Amino acid sequence: MSLGRKIVLALLFVFIGIQFIQPARNKSGQVLPTDITKMYNLPENVQVVLKNACYDCHSNNTNYQWYATIQPVGWWLASHIKKGKADLNFNEFGNYSKRKQQSKLKAIANSVKDKTMPLPAYALIHKNAKLSKEDKILLLNWVENLKDSLSQEN
Ligand code: HEC
Repeated sequence: MSLGRKIVLALLFVFIGIQFIQPARNKSGQVLPTDITKMYNLPENVQVVLKNACYDCHSNNTNYQWYATIQPVGWWLASHIKKGKADLNFNEFGNYSKRKQQSKLKAIANSVKDKTMPLPAYALIHKNAKLSKEDKILLLNWVENLKDSLSQEN
């Protein structure tokens, strides 16, 4: 067997081997009392945008696509979910102090304006996660309204 073939075969074995190492799934299926929808008015159309574009990494329930079962794609996604949830979890929004909620809302608006979220590589493969102009206006208006009502409570 030529060296080239040996290398291809070795890579194939590695690829098959890593398929057996599946990361734990981010699927709680529970709705917590701290869920943002339980705390604040979240209009239906805003919820749809957040669920399509953000919840895969910023909630306790990822909507997995078939390619997430293929490694290393699944590992890549799992690491983003871990980091994304640690920074912002819509299902646990109520656990944040009012001050932290305010700053998270500001960060959401900034991420939408700067196009840093959803992560570009993710938006590339999840076509329905890509924010349209209308989606952005919708999100930004909702963030502004909620920020205003939060600051009146303080
Ligand atoms: C593919 C996973 C993924 C998706 C989808 C995603 N994010 Fe993120 N997000 C992350 C990760 C990972 C971080 C942590 C910072 C980093 O690594 O860039 C983060 C950080 C953030 C932060 C920063 C929080 C802070 O405290 O500064 C905000 C705000 C945010 N995301 C908002 C959003 C919004 C809004 C959406 C949907 C429009 C979204 N994200 C979609 C993965 C994602």
